Amino acid sequence: MSERVFNFSAGPAVLPEPVLKKAQADLFAIPGVGMSILEVSHRSATFEQVIKEAEEDLRKLLGVPENYKVLFLQGGASLQFTMVPMNLLPKGQSADYILTGSWGQGAIKEAKKLGTVREAATTADTNFNRLPKSEDIKLDPNAAYVHFTSNETIFGVEFQDEPVAGEVPLICDMSSDFISRPVDVAKYGLIYAGAQKNAGPAGATIVIVRDDLLEKIPDGLPAMLDYKNFAKNGSMYNTPPCFAIYICGLVFKWALNDIGGLENVQALNKEKAEILYKAIDASDGYYRGHAEADCRSLMNVTFRLPSEEQEKKFIKDATAAGLDGLKGHRSVGGLRASIYNAFPKAGVEKLVEFMGEFQKNNG
Ligand SMILES: Cc1ncc(COP(=O)(O)O)c(C=O)c1O
Repeated sequence: MSERVFNFSAGPAVLPEPVLKKAQADLFAIPGVGMSILEVSHRSATFEQVIKEAEEDLRKLLGVPENYKVLFLQGGASLQFTMVPMNLLPKGQSADYILTGSWGQGAIKEAKKLGTVREAATTADTNFNRLPKSEDIKLDPNAAYVHFTSNETIFGVEFQDEPVAGEVPLICDMSSDFISRPVDVAKYGLIYAGAQKNAGPAGATIVIVRDDLLEKIPDGLPAMLDYKNFAKNGSMYNTPPCFAIYICGLVFKWALNDIGGLENVQALNKEKAEILYKAIDASDGYYRGHAEADCRSLMNVTFRLPSEEQEKKFIKDATAAGLDGLKGHRSVGGLRASIYNAFPKAGVEKLVEFMGEFQKNNG
């Protein structure tokens, strides 16, 4: 099959077509270099330029202030569940975690192995279908940091505004809505994101960290787990994930130059999500959204059908119709349509049309 399907996967996820075409063209031999990006040394001038441009473009796209370092790491967002407390949670202090889904649970589990964790709020009682109201978030003014997950990929709940943490550094797992909208980076102490949703392929993890936090990191951490070490070495303490960084760089250029920046990216994402949520809401209860209306994710749209049997049939028929990757995570069940930045509006329209037909024939 060489035709592309509509890929609703939660990650690794759909990439922009111009990015794939450019990568394809460079894959045999980069013009003027005579070898592919897969083969080039990370110490070469070619790769130095790739990583420099990727960082510059990300800084421009997201408006990263001068006093923040941009790091390209490995180990996925999951390794950040460990690196954050290892670097930033000193003995004798505790860290606040706002728990709104499975990824937050993962972050807490790892942090507890390394230090004291306080749950500042949780929405577990309603199977993470909502976000806590600001008055229900009980923050400790002496915490080492406050951690939250801006978009819980599995449940499909997304913060509109970041929690107000005052002087305490705000740390965010932004894996599944990174570069999907403008963000005021200056409000954060550290942002991390696995690349494989909006930013590129699996293999690179992006960390944006404020300089004063780097200065507080204790000496003597294992080299591969020490932010300072990667900051000092321009993300190249060891061999970085060269190909993943190269693709991320192309994605940043696409978002900047083809789409015109994050305000435009956000407008497109809103338009796509609205089409889908409207169809769910107009289905007389046949399709039921998991997330409460005011915290619905623009990235991962989670919904159920009247029975598991119908859900199974929906997924099977949708896959046959070229709508791939719609099966929801087992902790929510049902369906999940991940419609990241590169997911085309035509795919959302096709899904909505399919939903209407399916309801007519099976409802
Ligand atoms: C919000 C969030 N955090 C963390 C992760 C884990 O990422 P990784 O697989 O890169 O470790 C994911 C993966 O889907 C995610 O969606």
